[in-house]
Amino acid sequence: PAEVVPQAPEDPLFGLMRAYKADSSPDKVDLGIGAYRDDNAKPWVLPVVKKADEILRNDPEANHEYLPIAGLAALTGKAAELLLGKAAPAIAEKRAASVQTISGTGAVHLGALFLAKFYKIQGSNRTVYVSNPTWANHHQIFTNVGLPIATYPYFSKETKGLDFDGMKAALEQAPNGSIILLHACAHNPTGVDPTPEQWREIASLMKAKKHFPFFDTAYQGFASGDLDRDAGAIRLFVEQGFELVIAQSFAKNFGLYGERAGCFHYVAPPSADAAGITTRVASQLAILQRSEISNPPIYGARIASIVLNDAALFAEWQENLRTMSGRIINMRNKLRAKLEELGTPGQWNHITDQIGMFSFTGLSEPQVLKLRSDYHIYMTKNGRISMAGLNSRNVDYVATAVDKVVRE
Ligand code: LMR
Repeated sequence: PAEVVPQAPEDPLFGLMRAYKADSSPDKVDLGIGAYRDDNAKPWVLPVVKKADEILRNDPEANHEYLPIAGLAALTGKAAELLLGKAAPAIAEKRAASVQTISGTGAVHLGALFLAKFYKIQGSNRTVYVSNPTWANHHQIFTNVGLPIATYPYFSKETKGLDFDGMKAALEQAPNGSIILLHACAHNPTGVDPTPEQWREIASLMKAKKHFPFFDTAYQGFASGDLDRDAGAIRLFVEQGFELVIAQSFAKNFGLYGERAGCFHYVAPPSADAAGITTRVASQLAILQRSEISNPPIYGARIASIVLNDAALFAEWQENLRTMSGRIINMRNKLRAKLEELGTPGQWNHITDQIGMFSFTGLSEPQVLKLRSDYHIYMTKNGRISMAGLNSRNVDYVATAVDKVVRE
């Protein structure tokens, strides 16, 4: 292959991180990658994670042996409960097959690989419909396994909210049985989520069209501070009896970014043979997993499972989640208030209407590049900002810089 391998472009997000690190300005602000920062712009090891780490380090039984192919059972079972609800019939009826993965990316990939191999129902369409825009990595994960991608409208440039009519029309027009990728909460990159009422409409439309839901959830508990609320869309679809899959990341809600902890779940529709279907699916997932990563990494999985299996630590985790989501909501309020105080041209209500790690500001690419070159403020070219990069010291600086570039 040596002569035929072309140079690929650098990953835009990790390229941005590199450029930020290389910038020597004391004013620089990182609003790029979606990773939580505290009010001092520092990564935050969750206090509950520190406690779990301590427990792990003092465990005389802990070692560095291989996990089973499907991962740590003490994690995957609780992870499914976290998503579907403890008392969910889908759990009681053993309708979920869960596999530990290399965080959310690995889960999306395992799901994509599974569908590429088995989504061959007669007459169904193997195209994966993703929102426009979506997390950039979705495109390459699905195309890399040979599943074609199409997009459905999602973001309205006018309202900087949901283009609900456009979304519904596209789901209606997609051939029956299409795979539809949905962000369970805190949509990346827009921060725009359907309301519970809109989710109900999406579910009934998808039911009528026999579409296949593929949920990506990376922000449960991080978005609203309420784990159940952030799982609302997934639970609605499961209650409606869909066969579906879920990619679940623990990077953001546990702050375990580099540890690559996550799970992939397949949920069978209710049927007399549901447990049999789940067993067969699990056996195939094990083959795919074995050929790709053999078995998943152990450290982050243990940390998350210690927390998920202990009532007191679980309660503390919820506190930590409220700290993170609360600080972000506070920054949304401050940024909007400052822009409005400055009289910055345009409407800024979307900053506080949007939810989760990101805000889709509506800034144009030239404005984004000007913020980078003149003010050392780093965000992705589509105008997405990671809200966690804002803090009480830099929020006025960022608002003032945005005000200046918007007026130019
Ligand atoms: C992001 O979108 O910034 C995060 O989800 C990090 C990533 O892996 O892209």
